[in-house]
Amino acid sequence: MRVLPTLLTLLLSVPLSLQANNDAQQEFEQQAAVAIKEFASSLKNALMEAMKDGGPIESIAVCNLVAPTIAAEMSKKYGMEIGRTSLRVRNPANEADVWETSVLQQFQNRLNGGEAIQKLTFSEKVETELGSNRRMMKAIPTDKLCLSCHGSKIAEPVQAMIDQYYPEDMATGFKLGDIRGAFTVSREVEDQ
Ligand code: HEC
Repeated sequence: MRVLPTLLTLLLSVPLSLQANNDAQQEFEQQAAVAIKEFASSLKNALMEAMKDGGPIESIAVCNLVAPTIAAEMSKKYGMEIGRTSLRVRNPANEADVWETSVLQQFQNRLNGGEAIQKLTFSEKVETELGSNRRMMKAIPTDKLCLSCHGSKIAEPVQAMIDQYYPEDMATGFKLGDIRGAFTVSREVEDQ
C-alpha cells in the first residue's frame, strides 16, 4: 500500500513543479523585458548624443567605449547577464553562442513568415553541463539612424574608422527593417 501515496505524490508534484517553473519563467521574462527596455533606451540616448556632437566618425569611438559599459551597468543593476548579439557582429566579443544563433535564425524565419519585427522575442530555460539558465532574446530592428554605420553605403572616413577599431567587422550591408541583431539576457537558476 506504499505505492498509492507515492503515485499520488508523483502525479500531483509533476504538474505542480511544472506550474512553478512556468511562473518563474514568466517572472524572469517580465524582469528581462524591463532590463532590455532600459538598456535599449540608454544605448539610443548615448548614440544620439554622440551623433549630435560629432557625427558617425566620432560616434564609433563612443560606441566602442560606451556600449560595453552600459551593458555592464545594466547587468549589475538587474542581476542578469545582458548584452547584444547578431549573426553578423561588429565586435567579436558579441558573437552569438549556439543557443543565440538558433534563436536569431528562428527570428529571421518568423520575420520571413510575416511576423512583425517588434514582436520577435523568445524565452526558454536552457540546460547545459554548466548548469541551468533562464534566457531571453528580443530582436533589434535596423532603423534609419543605424544605416550610416551598418548600412550598404558607408562614408569612406566612417569605414576607415570602423576598420581601425573592428578589423573583423561583419556588421555592414543591413537594410531598413532588417534584423540587425538582438538583445540577449541570461540568468542562472539557483533554486535546484
Ligand atoms: C556611429 C556608428 C553607429 C551607429 C549609427 C550605430 N551603430 Fe551599432 N555598432 C557600432 C559600433 C562601433 C558597434 C560595436 C560596439 C562594441 O564594441 O560593443 C556596434 C554594435 C552594434 C550591435 C552589437 C552587435 C555587434 O555587431 O557587435 C548591435 C546589435 C548594433 N550595433 C545595432 C545598432 C542599431 C540597431 C543601430 C541604430 C539604432 C546602430 N547600431 C547604430 C556603431 C554604430
